[in-house]
Amino acid sequence: MSASSHEIPSVSGTLESFMTLEQFIIDHQEESQHSTGAFSRLIRDISVAAKIINRNIRRAGLLDVFGASGEINVQGEVQKKLDVIADEEIVRALRKGGECRLIGSEEQSETMSIGDDQASVGRYAVYFDPLDGSSNTDVNASVGSIFSIYHLGARNERSSTLEEVLQPGSKQVAAGYVAYGSSTMFVYTTGDGVNGFTLDPEIGEFVLSHPDIRIPDQAKMYSINEADFDDFSAGVRRYLRWLKRPDEHGYRPIRHRYIGAFVSDFHRNLITGGIYMYPKTATSPEGKLRLMYEANPLAFIVEQAGGAASDGKRRILDIVPDDLHQRTPVFIGNTDLVQELERQLEASVEAA
Ligand code: AHG
Ligand code: MN
Ligand code: MN
Repeated sequence: MSASSHEIPSVSGTLESFMTLEQFIIDHQEESQHSTGAFSRLIRDISVAAKIINRNIRRAGLLDVFGASGEINVQGEVQKKLDVIADEEIVRALRKGGECRLIGSEEQSETMSIGDDQASVGRYAVYFDPLDGSSNTDVNASVGSIFSIYHLGARNERSSTLEEVLQPGSKQVAAGYVAYGSSTMFVYTTGDGVNGFTLDPEIGEFVLSHPDIRIPDQAKMYSINEADFDDFSAGVRRYLRWLKRPDEHGYRPIRHRYIGAFVSDFHRNLITGGIYMYPKTATSPEGKLRLMYEANPLAFIVEQAGGAASDGKRRILDIVPDDLHQRTPVFIGNTDLVQELERQLEASVEAA
């Protein structure tokens, strides 16, 4: 074997095409009405938190080792669950950055106003799931972080109206996720397509690796917790049977994959084509996933990539929330598959 066959190719080819997340945001500042300097800093703050969370996740298997003696770590702190660590890191980054006025996290019961002590007031609300699929860390499988960004009224307005806090997903100015998989990726949209950046651990930068992501026309995967099959509505059960049934074009059956972390399942389906489903069940009558920091951000991304997201009847992004933590059934992926699901549920005259 020649020496050159051992060379590791650079992430994005030539030096000219080497683009960090930070550079990309700055370059696209003029193109988007919301890509202002403040917005660029906000995305940068989130990406910094993502790197810190990534570092913690990569050491997850060692947390017990380091925490074994009385669950106290080397800094003298009690060992914390990764969900809490991730939440703290994102809050810390947003607080420090100063561009965010309102935070809503899966890990906190209420929205939190920040920056009250600062001279200038942030203009954005950020809702997030700090660690999605967190039980996967126990078995060394992929997890993620999800964020959703809204614009809040005028600068120097310190309080936010309920209307501003609970905006429908269609009003998001940006959304994204970080997938901590075999590599770590930062994927986001500002409503002008979807771009993916892979963390180069050597230089500590997210580098553009997946420009202008489009969900492939031909779906390959469907993802659902089929253990709940008997709990699904007759319409969903029928649709699952349809997905498995061969058709004359060779389009179906498509394969089943389920990681059990929304970000990871969604990311794979975005790259390969497919549909992710979390319907309501007898035990979760509203579904399990949260509208504001799980369904909405990934719905924004999938639409920007040419796909669709529905609760079975309605476009996810049209739902007007009445609670930060409200749940919704989710069907998200290739547009034709989501539309077919809606058709089959309607034909069954029942909700998802
Ligand atoms: P979280 O870890 O943020 O609570 O989210 C877990 C969610 C989601 O990531 C995943 O798709 C789903 O739970 C899996 O649920 P089931 O185990 O019921 O399939
Ligand atoms: Mn989650
Ligand atoms: Mn979570």
